Amino acid sequence: MSIWTPSSWRDRPVLQQPTYPDMEALKRVEQELSAYPPLVFAGEARSLTKQLADVANGKAFLLQGGDCAESFSEFHADNIRDTFKAMMQMAVVMTFAGGLPVVKVGRMGGQFAKPRSSDNETIDGVTLPSYRGDIINSVDFTESARVPDPHRMIEAYNQSTATLNLLRAFATGGMADLHQVHKWTLDFAHQNELSSKYEELAENISQSLEFMDACGVNSSTFRTLRETDFYTSHEALLLPYEEAFTRQDSLTGDWFDVSAHMLWIGDRTRQLDGAHVEFLSGVNNPIGLKCGPTMDTEDLIRLVDKLNPENEPGRLNLIVRMGADKVADGMPKLVQAIEREGRSVVWSCDPMHGNVYKSSNGYKTRPVDNILSEMKQFFQVHKAEGTHAGGVHLEMTGKDVTECVGGSFTVTEEDLSSRYHTHCDPRLNADQSLELAFMIADTLKEATH
Ligand code: PEP
Ligand code: CO
Repeated sequence: MSIWTPSSWRDRPVLQQPTYPDMEALKRVEQELSAYPPLVFAGEARSLTKQLADVANGKAFLLQGGDCAESFSEFHADNIRDTFKAMMQMAVVMTFAGGLPVVKVGRMGGQFAKPRSSDNETIDGVTLPSYRGDIINSVDFTESARVPDPHRMIEAYNQSTATLNLLRAFATGGMADLHQVHKWTLDFAHQNELSSKYEELAENISQSLEFMDACGVNSSTFRTLRETDFYTSHEALLLPYEEAFTRQDSLTGDWFDVSAHMLWIGDRTRQLDGAHVEFLSGVNNPIGLKCGPTMDTEDLIRLVDKLNPENEPGRLNLIVRMGADKVADGMPKLVQAIEREGRSVVWSCDPMHGNVYKSSNGYKTRPVDNILSEMKQFFQVHKAEGTHAGGVHLEMTGKDVTECVGGSFTVTEEDLSSRYHTHCDPRLNADQSLELAFMIADTLKEATH
């Protein structure tokens, strides 16, 4: 058996990587990045593994969410703040109405590289290399914009540090104080049934806090009322970048990828002998593995063996993304195999990536109904198998975008052109995310009470 090193992935077949025209420039950037300070600390990644172990053991729920692709052009404090607020709203709904603590992980502060189904894109008879995320090339449809440029990795790193800095400030500097629960409502929030439902819940929380304050339990005496833990994650796709941030923890000697707390392997790059599985098998961060409709039970067990050989709870998150029409058929056998083999995993549901279609006016979109339906079926499968529906993995934003169709504040196909801002896949807007959070909370309550 070969020995793992941060660069052992280079001896394996590697998919979805850009072809850089200047390999010397790539090498220089890799060297520069490997001397940059880490974004996260190994101890934080270990804390997240611990919290995820609670999820694996049925004592908590994982909320992972954020952009499909972060972009240089949408980099703005307001965007970060609004996604943070939307996730806090969802988490408080799930905790208060659903009765389980929520582990919060952003698809933020590093979610730049995108796998593509095709290497090229053709528009009006012109064919150019596909856009692979701002860390690789530019979304503009010109020949020069689509050339992969390694210096973009440095810009992505800088943007990630600033994003993470702000997230840390929000998480510990007062924004996450439970007394702010009314203020997490987003400025544009539509007055509808959903917002009234949230207001009612926020009011109940405020009253409970007043009562607790009278008993001497308040923000100054209890850290958990005033602060939250907010972690970052992204797909570990662009391996030269991830390798440059793979460092040995000075306390334990273990390797960690310090570009984010949690990393995951995409559905297109999960080959057992491939480079991405090799790379993540050796880092000690908690990791995710996307499980699409073609995942079979034997492959899954072999992957679990390689990625979590010690069967450590919280280490491995299986992110199921089958599609509303396939999950009932494709998922039970995976859950049964994991149970049969006695493996500890976090099960989470990505109800986004199996539910994409092209609208009649040419937009890549997702119906909220199918997203809700996949989520419900995910819960039903776990109920039937007696396992814990551990979490949800979402592409969402706190902005009032029109990218997914449906929802109780209906976005129609005609509306899509109005505020369609994503650089890649369509995201749930703040209303649609909150609607999903209430549905999850109701289901969790049924399951845990
Ligand atoms: C993603 O999460 O953005 C993604 C590309 O997912 P998947 O690998 O499941 O297709
Ligand atoms: Co996506």
